[in-house]
Amino acid sequence: MIEAKYIWMDGQFVDWDAAKIHVLSHTLHYGNGVIEGTKAYKTQDGRCAIFKLKEHTKRLLNSAKMTLINSPFTQEELELAQIELIQKNKLINGAYIRPIIFLGYGAMGLYHKEAPTQVAIAAWEWGAYLGDEGMKKGVRVKIASMTRTPNTSGMGKAKAVANYLNSQMAKFEAVEAGYDEALLRDDQGYIAEASGACFFIVRDGVLITPPNDTSLESITQATVIDIAKDLGYEVVRRRITREETYIADEAFFTGTAVEVTPIREIDSRTIGDGQRGEITKVLQDAYFDVVAGKNEKYLKDLTYIN
Ligand SMILES: Cc1ncc(COP(=O)(O)O)c(C=O)c1O
Repeated sequence: MIEAKYIWMDGQFVDWDAAKIHVLSHTLHYGNGVIEGTKAYKTQDGRCAIFKLKEHTKRLLNSAKMTLINSPFTQEELELAQIELIQKNKLINGAYIRPIIFLGYGAMGLYHKEAPTQVAIAAWEWGAYLGDEGMKKGVRVKIASMTRTPNTSGMGKAKAVANYLNSQMAKFEAVEAGYDEALLRDDQGYIAEASGACFFIVRDGVLITPPNDTSLESITQATVIDIAKDLGYEVVRRRITREETYIADEAFFTGTAVEVTPIREIDSRTIGDGQRGEITKVLQDAYFDVVAGKNEKYLKDLTYIN
């Protein structure tokens, strides 16, 4: 991680190393907290812009609502804090932004109403999440033995810290087995999502991606669907079974961190001809154009910070 100078914490900028919490902070023990993952990019005119800042901040507050955490800051205050954080840290080449709303020190036991709510936002430069080579050649994927936490016992629509135990177990299993990323099924056996991304396949020129029944409401998935439709591709939202992933012509992940990452293998089955698929490449390029401010239609989604 490339450290930046400041972290925004509870309304103030503090030095990176001074952004500390008490060891008895509630979230550390019981796992109720919510996060976001947002990205700022250097755009074509040299300025830096945060992509879909409003949507990410809204989802952060929605996640907090779902998990019974009262944010002490409003949408506007949190948006401004993210803009100022990028400005103050001079992250003009772009950055990954990580807000977290969590329960601090002051109450123990599961009933969390009396626990103080804290908010921190960090930002730092972060390269391709699944590696530069993965972006060009595609990554290798394992379908995890663990399923995505079902809606009957989890809150998959919340970007809740607690959900990442499920993701982490799947990711660890996949990486230890020699793969790059894990794909999780839902409790019915249909593909839900990856450990930190959404999933698409291409069959006969048609893009297929699961509904968000058992996944985060992904902002990048929505963007890629819009871009694909602009380019004239048919997009279908329907469930995908495990074996259908094996016979896809192309497959790729979408997410703020993974952006559009091609998949070249799933469980020892080569996808397509084992390289980045043609349509995947078109969408990948189009996505990078959008975040770089090169596509007029999506300029409304960019918040310039300088
Ligand atoms: C579990 C999970 N699913 C999907 C995504 C993709 O969501 P988004 O495109 O909004 O970043 C992420 C990343 O934030 C994630 O952590």
